[in-house]
Amino acid sequence: VSLLGLNSFGIDARASHFLRIDDIDQLRILWERMQSDVALAGLRRLLLGGGSNIILSDQLPHLVLQMAIKGRALLMETAEHFIVRAGAGENWHEFVQWTLGQAYGGLENLSLIPGTVGASPIQNIGAYGVEMQDCFHSLTAFDFITGSLRTFQKQDCAFAYRDSIFKSGEQNRFVIVDVSFALAKAWQPRLAYGDVAKFLQEREIAEPTPHDVSQAIIAIRQSKLPDPAVIGNAGSFFKNPIVSAELRNQILQRYPSCVSYPQSNGDFKLAAGWLIEQCGWKGRRLKTVGVYEKQALVLVNLGGATGADIRALAEEIQADVRKKFAVALEVEPVFV
Ligand code: EPU
Repeated sequence: VSLLGLNSFGIDARASHFLRIDDIDQLRILWERMQSDVALAGLRRLLLGGGSNIILSDQLPHLVLQMAIKGRALLMETAEHFIVRAGAGENWHEFVQWTLGQAYGGLENLSLIPGTVGASPIQNIGAYGVEMQDCFHSLTAFDFITGSLRTFQKQDCAFAYRDSIFKSGEQNRFVIVDVSFALAKAWQPRLAYGDVAKFLQEREIAEPTPHDVSQAIIAIRQSKLPDPAVIGNAGSFFKNPIVSAELRNQILQRYPSCVSYPQSNGDFKLAAGWLIEQCGWKGRRLKTVGVYEKQALVLVNLGGATGADIRALAEEIQADVRKKFAVALEVEPVFV
């Protein structure tokens, strides 16, 4: 089965086994079959949501499960929150727009992030000063060890910057089937990220609604980030690295324009896009892949990219940044 249309980088990968999952019963049936079918049970599983944070190899000897469980609803109301739940296979942006249409604010800063609801906790998606964990309530996952459903509360998930236990600890054990969010009734706009406040000021919007913030985010993202439907990409290709104050000060002395953000423990987060641009990579290409001309943190498919081509470019960039700044860049999407 070709996965060409199922990953945002547009890699023509072939999977040996493929199953689209539309409801939980299909997972139960698969699990029961695995108890007697050793070959099936021995296949490595690969979960696909929107395929927007994954770099595939050409040949995958995997059982690919495309998560397509749908549904979204208000689960309950507390004095302070609306609790909404969505199936793992719902498109993230459409879900965010649905919450805003119901007048539930809270997810507007995460507008236009590609991918699915079920993928959102895996790497704790974040943008413009908000992370998914800020609104996370709980999730339901199918456990491939016990064959039953399990509920995860926030403290069970080990959320961190672009990370959770589903990305770093227990990748192959759980399949997320739905996610619930707690959206505060007392809504406050989160405009700490400069571009957003500036966008609203320029339009003289003094008291923005969640919808106004969402429109601002959509416009900002569209001006910087390539649309995966047009140019294959996986969003930010590297995490913004966290370095000691000492290293950050050394860099700042040599490069006064260095972009950095203080962390609560005294370390600094550096803008990886800035580091890559300083190394001269912005807009450059290597074989079938390139560095996006408007955002150096995004690698793009210039036509026919393979996982190996992408890896080669990523490694060259990492080597140059290490040489120039003594900073190690960590890859953000998952290589399979
Ligand atoms: N910058 C440059 N050159 C570049 C790109 C960026 O100098 O080519 C500088 C910018 O001028 C700015 C700073 O770096 O001062 C930060 O850039 P930007 O606002 O574009 O955000 P980012 O740090 O590059 C992060 C997230 C994005 C998220 C944005 C907005 C990571 C790895 N990336 O990018 O997330 O949309 O902030 O919040 O944390 C993603 O994870 O896929 C993603 C797109």
